[in-house]
Order: sequence, then C-alpha cells, then structure tokens
Amino acid sequence: MSGLVGKPVNRIDGKLKVTGGARYAAEFPLLNLAHAVFITSPIASGRITDIDIKVAEESPGVLAVLTHLNMPKLAQEPKFGFGAIFTGQSFSPMQGAEIYYSGQQVAMVIADTLERATHAAKLVQFTYTVEQPVTIKDIDKAYEPETMWGGMFPARMVKGDVGQGIAQADVQINATYTIAGNHHNPMEPSATIAAWSGDKLTLYDATQGVFSTQSTVANLLGIPVENVRVISTFVGGGFGCKGPVMSHTWLTAIASREVGRPVKLVLTREQMYTSVGYREEQSMEMTLAATSKGKLTAIKHIKTSATSPFEDWAEPSTGVVSNIYSCDNVEASYRLVKANVMTPTFTRAPGEVPGMFAIESAMDELAYKLGIDPIELRLRNHADLEPRSGKPYSSKSLKECYARGAKLIGWRNRNPQPASMKQGRYLIGYGMASSSFPTHRPFTAQSARATLLSDGRVVVQCGAVDIGTGAYTILAQVAADVLGLSPEQIQVEIGDTTLPNVTFAGGSMGAGAWSSAVHTAAIALRNKLVTMAITNPQSPLYQAKPEDIAVENGRLFHTQDPSQGETYTAVLCHLEQPSVEVVASWKPDMGAGQKYAMHAFGAQFAKVQVDPDFGTVRVLKCVGVFAAGRILNAKTARSQLIGGIVWGIGQALLENTHMDYNYGRYTNANLAEYLIPVNADIPDIEIDFIPEEDPHINVLGVKGIGEIGMVGAGAAIANAIFHATGKRMRDLPITPEKVMLA
Ligand code: MOS
Repeated sequence: MSGLVGKPVNRIDGKLKVTGGARYAAEFPLLNLAHAVFITSPIASGRITDIDIKVAEESPGVLAVLTHLNMPKLAQEPKFGFGAIFTGQSFSPMQGAEIYYSGQQVAMVIADTLERATHAAKLVQFTYTVEQPVTIKDIDKAYEPETMWGGMFPARMVKGDVGQGIAQADVQINATYTIAGNHHNPMEPSATIAAWSGDKLTLYDATQGVFSTQSTVANLLGIPVENVRVISTFVGGGFGCKGPVMSHTWLTAIASREVGRPVKLVLTREQMYTSVGYREEQSMEMTLAATSKGKLTAIKHIKTSATSPFEDWAEPSTGVVSNIYSCDNVEASYRLVKANVMTPTFTRAPGEVPGMFAIESAMDELAYKLGIDPIELRLRNHADLEPRSGKPYSSKSLKECYARGAKLIGWRNRNPQPASMKQGRYLIGYGMASSSFPTHRPFTAQSARATLLSDGRVVVQCGAVDIGTGAYTILAQVAADVLGLSPEQIQVEIGDTTLPNVTFAGGSMGAGAWSSAVHTAAIALRNKLVTMAITNPQSPLYQAKPEDIAVENGRLFHTQDPSQGETYTAVLCHLEQPSVEVVASWKPDMGAGQKYAMHAFGAQFAKVQVDPDFGTVRVLKCVGVFAAGRILNAKTARSQLIGGIVWGIGQALLENTHMDYNYGRYTNANLAEYLIPVNADIPDIEIDFIPEEDPHINVLGVKGIGEIGMVGAGAAIANAIFHATGKRMRDLPITPEKVMLA
C-alpha cells in the first residue's frame, strides 16, 4: 500500500453536504409527487370500533384516506430477524383493528400537498374501545423466554457453576443497574418516496441497507425482488433505527400504488418515537464474586425489560457480560414483560452498551471494596482466550489500550480515595471502563465494480450506504491506494440496488466488508490493465512480467526502469477502448472465523466535576483508546469515536424517554424534552488508536468502529462520579436530583 489508507483525508462528499448538493431520501424532486401523513393511535391497548373518513376524503386536495379497512393486505407477515424479510417487528400496522401500542399507525392521508394532507388528517374521526395497557411496571408478568429473537440467540447462557463460584469467593457485589429508555433521534427523520412505473417500484428510502429493504418490501408486497429498486445515496444518521425495515416504508409503497402517483412520507419527530424502534428501558441484576486478590469466581446477570406483544426480544446485553473477563462460572439470562410497546430494536452498540454499564459499574464497586486499582483489577481478570468459546483472539490489544488511556487522562494524579479531590467548590473524579465490540463479518459474497474511464478517473460502485460515517471517503482511499490515484480521481457510487451486492451499514461491519470488496475489485482492475499493457505490442511495457509493473499517478511503469511505462489513458487509447470495467467479489474466510474470536477493544476514561450543592455533573475530559484493527481514515474514524462518546455522555447524564405508565404513552417525544447533549455539554475528547495488523478478519484487517466508542463511555462517567462524590449511581441518566438524593 502506498500509504493513502489510514490518512486523515477530508470527506470527499463534504462539499456536497455543506452546499445542500447531497440528496437525502425526502429530497428527490419527482414529478406529480403526492404527500402522505400518518394518523397514529392515542391509546396503547384496545381496538378501533369506528372510523369516519367522510369529511377528510372531501377535504381539498385529498387523494385517499387509507385505514385498515381499505389498505390492501400484505402478501406475507413481517418478520424481525435476518432473512429475506427483515423488519423492525413481526407486525404491520393498518392490517387490522387491534391497537397494541400508543403511536401505532392507524391511517394514512394522501393529498397533493403536505399541508392539505396534514389538515385532512385532523378531520378523520376514530372511536376506540380502550383497555388498560401492560407496561414494564407489570413486573409480575415477567417470564424467561426459551430463546430470543426467534431462536437467533439463547435466552440463557450458563458456564460452570455460579453457586460454587460464589461459595469460593471472599467478596461479592450484588447490585441492580438500570437505564432509561433511549431513542436514536438521527437528524434526518425516516422518510420514503415511493414511485411506480407499471409493476416496477422505486423507493428513495432513508435506510442503512438498500438490499435488505429491497427484498423485504418485495416479499411483503408479493412482487419479484427485481421489480424493486431502492436508492439511498445519503442518510442523515441511522444508529440502528434505519437498519430493519419499518412499516412506513412498505405502507408508502402500497399508498403510491393505490393513488397512482409517487408518494412521499416523512415521519414527524414525534412519530419517530413510536415507529422505528428504540433502546428499551431495562434493569440488570448483577452479582460479581471474587477472591481477596480480585480474581473473579462468579458472574451472574439477569436483565429484565419489556418487549412487544409480537416477539421475544431484548438487546443482547448478556453477550458482553459473559465474554469480557476471564471467569469460570457465569450465568446470564433475560426476563421479559410482553407490554404495549412496539418492539425495541438495535440502537448503537445494542447489548454492549447496557451490558458494559452493568459489569463495569460492578467491577468498579469491586475495585473499591477490595482496595485494588480499577485498571489493575481488570488486568487481573484479563481474558487471554475468549471466555465463551475458549478460542484465541485474531488480535487483542486491550492491555495497551488501558496503559495508553491511563497516561492520556493522567490516571497517576488520581487520589484513589473517593470524594478526596477538589477544585474550588467542585468535586473532581476519574473513572474508567473497558470497551469491546464483536467484529461481525458478512455471510455472503461482497462485490464491487471498478471502471477506468478514458480521462483516467476510476468509478467504484457497490450497494453500500453512507449513514454519515465517511463510507464514500474510505472507499475512495482504498481504491486510490491500489490504483495509484488520488482520492479525487475516484468517483464512488453507492446506495443503489442496481449496484453490486454488499451487506448493510450495521453491526460496525460496513467498513470491513465494503473495503474488502472495493480492494478486491481495484486489484482486479489493476491486474487487467497490466495484462492489457504487457500483451499489446504498441505498449512500452509489451512483454514485461506482471510482477515487474507498479502503478503511480495513474501510470503503469517498469520497476527496474520507471521511464518505461504508460498512463491508464494511454492503455485505453492503444486498444481504442472507451473504458474498462471489472466486477470482483470477496468472501470472508469462514475457517478463520472457526479458529479465532474476533473483537475490537478499547479503554475509556472520564474526568468529571460535580457540584456538591446542586448535584450537577460536568464531564471535563474523555479519553478513548481503541484497538480496532486497521483504521482506514484517521479523521473520519476519530469523528465516529467522538460521536459514540457523545452518545455515552447523553445516555449517562441526559437521555430519558419518559413513559406515563398509566396510559402507556411517551410524554417527551420531541427534541425539547428528550434531552441530548449540546456543544456546551461536550468536553475535550481525546481519541487514540493502538495499531493492529489482523490478517484473519478481512482483506485490510478492519474491525469497525461505528459502535465501540459508546460502549464503555457511560460506565466510565458513572464511575468517575463515584470517585468524585463517593455516591454510587446505578440508574441512568444520572440527573442532578439523583446525585443530590443519593
Ligand atoms: Mo447498528 S445499532 O448495528 O445500526
């Protein structure tokens, strides 16, 4: 590699974004576009008994009022789980009269303008029978499911004998950690434009995966997959809520077919709280047992949360709890309440975030109880082999992350005694936590196309989606590096099902999978150009050996005599070809996956200041040191990790979706009362990387960084608050009144 990969290259799409040239789903100006709005249920449980649409239907500009009475039935049931149908829950609104959750979509009003649709929606009259909703407060209804998510992972994992581990222990921590419900709230709300041409459907959709949206919508509508095209060129944040396909997408497709016009639907901010999943409110009972030397002898974790009436789902927090430290006796399980809510979904670092908050808070408690430094305690329980499988790691640099992070935050200056450090009238505290995220790899071949144009530029294409991460830029870097071009000479085209198939932007998997496909295609194009040159009598490289040819500045040359060579443009001219194109695929080495455990790791530190009179917390500094394989772009990677840490600060101190449990309704479904951090809340965040070369995971050894930045951030802040105040905060968000009352 020439060294372009990893460089802090500016976003190649940056100019488009700041000038408004980047087109998001709702911004495609289609001719004759109609506008749809949803009416949603104000009740959380019950049944629609009557609907009066007459006045609305006669309202000016209205094209249709669709309800469960006239909305066509789906060809198949939605299904939450990876497969040909990948929806956010196994239920579609507007297919029946039952109401399962507040905010459930009950009607769609389509009109020639948004204003007319919005007005007419207020004219529809619904009559309901109302039942008392079930919520997480109905804890007596909790049960332990047999499997989770339709059998995708077990609901209980047991290793060794926890009872025996506890009997061997000198000390125990028994504590319950809780987190509030959180919503993703990307800047761009979910949106779909559906347009039919005969029996062919085009969807402009804010999605993390064009191919999963294509196959899901095709199957739900009962039409051939090839009749659906999905375009998603720019996405304003996803974080999981645009991963599975949500009901507004297929309902808009049907609505467009019904009115015979292209239809645009944009969820309102309020509707985003009840239409696209969320991170569920949850409590986690933890038991840690350890010897007086700090060696863990037992870990027990029981997570309780609410799921929807449709499936057994909880974000899989037991995964990280059972897998981060070496311990012989582990038991982890879930308890669920089937409540009147929509199914929760993936939310940035699903499972790792709450799981790590629980175990890293408990580890901190254990460290203070034993009088062992929190970093030292973690080193004493470091897993040299993956605890769950016993496999070696493909690479692991967690110890280096601790050491580097401790240095950057100034851990040495910390007086271990809680509530001992002051600055003026403020209490100062330092906290830390481990971080990890599994390296997921796709099961299917990842393909890309690379085309050399006659002007020497190269077009690189695959159906990836840039959800704000910098995918355009890293793919340009990878291709440019292989082909000896500058990133500006690479045109990256993604976000369209007409392009070669790759996996979706989820599970921190995109960068590793897509860079592997693009790298493979770029190599294939370079090899093809070399072959074209050395077999062409007109070329100065005629009859040279392929291994003697190198590329630089868009030119092939002989390594022994660099003056012998020709530009890519010349190669095409000699053969009178306007362009040359290759499609190539990469598939992960499944053997390596059998042999090695693959995870990214990190160490996260926080320094906080607490006002002892008002209980207000300010984060003064965050440090995150990560070992995530090869970093493709130091600048966009740093940005991603800062973003994850900002999420961690929000979750630790501010974010809380409040429910009125009597009515089963959210009371702050907006950005005024659902608090997220603003610039003034965000301190200096320092990111560093431990370099890793991992030959086992994918072509460039990329582990992915979309989620790991958030994983340990909340726990590090809670632990820092304990150090500052001596008060253990076990309930997120840590608001001033909780600090004062503790
Ligand atoms: Mo991510 S929560 O897998 O979109």
